[in-house]
Amino acid sequence: MKIAMLGSGFIGRFYADSLQGYRSKDKIVTIYSRREESAKKFAQDYDVPFSTTVMEEAINRPEVEVVCISLPNNLHEEAVLLCCKHKKAVITTKPLGRNAEEAKRMLQAVEKAGIFNGYLEDLVYTPKFIKAHESVKNGALGRILWAKSRETHPGPHSDWFWDIEQAGGGCILDLGCHCVEITRSYIGKDIKPVEVMCWADTQVKPIDAEDHAIGLVKYENGAIAQFEVSWTFRGGLDLRDEVMGTEGTIWVNSFLRTGFEMFTTGKAANYVAEKAESDKGWLFPVGDELNELGYNHMFMDMFNSMEKGTQPKETFYDGYVVNAVLDAAYKSAKTKQWEPVKLDIWRGKVGVSKDGHLVEYDANHYLVKEEVTHYGAKKVILKNKKNGKITEQVLS
Ligand SMILES: NC(=O)c1ccc[n+]([C@@H]2O[C@H](COP(=O)([O-])OP(=O)(O)OC[C@H]3O[C@@H](n4cnc5c(N)ncnc54)[C@H](O)[C@@H]3O)[C@@H](O)[C@H]2O)c1
Repeated sequence: MKIAMLGSGFIGRFYADSLQGYRSKDKIVTIYSRREESAKKFAQDYDVPFSTTVMEEAINRPEVEVVCISLPNNLHEEAVLLCCKHKKAVITTKPLGRNAEEAKRMLQAVEKAGIFNGYLEDLVYTPKFIKAHESVKNGALGRILWAKSRETHPGPHSDWFWDIEQAGGGCILDLGCHCVEITRSYIGKDIKPVEVMCWADTQVKPIDAEDHAIGLVKYENGAIAQFEVSWTFRGGLDLRDEVMGTEGTIWVNSFLRTGFEMFTTGKAANYVAEKAESDKGWLFPVGDELNELGYNHMFMDMFNSMEKGTQPKETFYDGYVVNAVLDAAYKSAKTKQWEPVKLDIWRGKVGVSKDGHLVEYDANHYLVKEEVTHYGAKKVILKNKKNGKITEQVLS
C-alpha cells in the first residue's frame, strides 16, 4: 500500500508508527526446522519460499540478510558459528549461551567475523519497560537503590527445556536471564555486577535442574538487584518488576493484571494468554501479546540499527554479561556463599565507588527525614555533622 499522509503532527506520527510497524516490509525467506513436516508447515503458514532440515542451507542463501536464531539453547553456538562462516548478520533469542564460556565464544566469533549481532531480550522492549526506563534515566526516581524482577510460570512447553544438558540449566537460566537484564538496565548497564547470592531448589518437578530460585545481585555502586524465578508457579505467567530510588518507585505488572479481566463458565473457551492455566472462571487475557511482550519494539530496534549501521540496545555482549551473572548464581546456589561475577570482558565503568548516602541539610547537619504529620506539623530529623547526634526540629 502506498499511502499519502496529510499532516505530520501528533496523530500523523502515531499513524505512521502504527502503519509502518504493522504493515511490515520484513519477510522470512528461508526456514530451517529439525523435522521436514514442521519446516513445511511453517513455510506454508508464513508463505516462506524455501524450507529445509539442513541448518546451513537456510543460512547460506544469497537472499538471506539476517539470521534469527530461535533454536534450543544447546544449538545457539552452532548456528552462530555458521552465521560467522557465511558472514550473515545474526540475532539470537535468550539466553545467549548455556553458560558464560559459550556466550563468550559466540561474542568473540561475531566480533571477529565483523557481523551485526543482536540479543533478543524482548522484556526490555515492552511498552511498560520502555516508559519506566525512560523515567529512571531522566532521574524521576533519583539514585537507583534496588530493582527486582519476577518471572514465574508453571513450566516450559517443550521437552528439551527440562533436559539439563540441552537447556544448560533450569528456571535460573530460562527465566533469570530476563530478570537480570531488566534489573541491570534499571541500575545502569555500565555499572558492573560484582557478586551474587542465590537460593535454588528442585521442589516439584522430577528433573535434575532447579525449578525455583531467588537471587540477589550486588552492583559496584552499591545498588542491589533481585530475581525471583519459578517453573512451579500456578496461575499463569507472572511478570512483575519493581524499581526503587531515592526519589521514587515504579511497580510494573506486565502480564497477569493488565486491566483486562473476564469471567466465563467455559462456554466457547478460547486462547487466553501465554501459559494461562485455565479458560474458565476469572481470566486475565492480554490484548496484544506481541506488543506487551516487546517483540514489535525489539525487531524495530534490531532492523533499524542494522540499516543505520549502529548497535541495537541489546547485543551479544549483553547476553554474555547476563550469562556471567547467572553462572555466579549457579555457583552460589551450591556453595551458599556470595560468589563473584567473573567477567573476562567488561566494557562498562571501572572502579566505581559506592554512591554516597549523605544528604546535605545545612552547614552543620545532614537530613535524615522530613515529614508533615497528621496534626499539621512539619518536622525535620537531622544528624549533626560533627558529633553525629540525631535531633528533630518542628518547623511549623
Ligand atoms: N521470551 C523469549 O524470548 C523466549 C520465549 C520462549 C523461548 N525462547 C528461546 O527460544 C529458543 C527456542 O525455544 P522454543 O520455545 O521456540 O522451543 P520449541 O521447542 O518450541 O522450538 C524449537 C525449535 O527448534 C527446532 N530444533 C532443531 N533441532 C532441535 C533439537 N535437536 N531439539 C529440539 N528442537 C530442535 C525445532 O524443530 C523447533 O522448531 C530457546 O533458546 C528459548 O530459550 C525465548
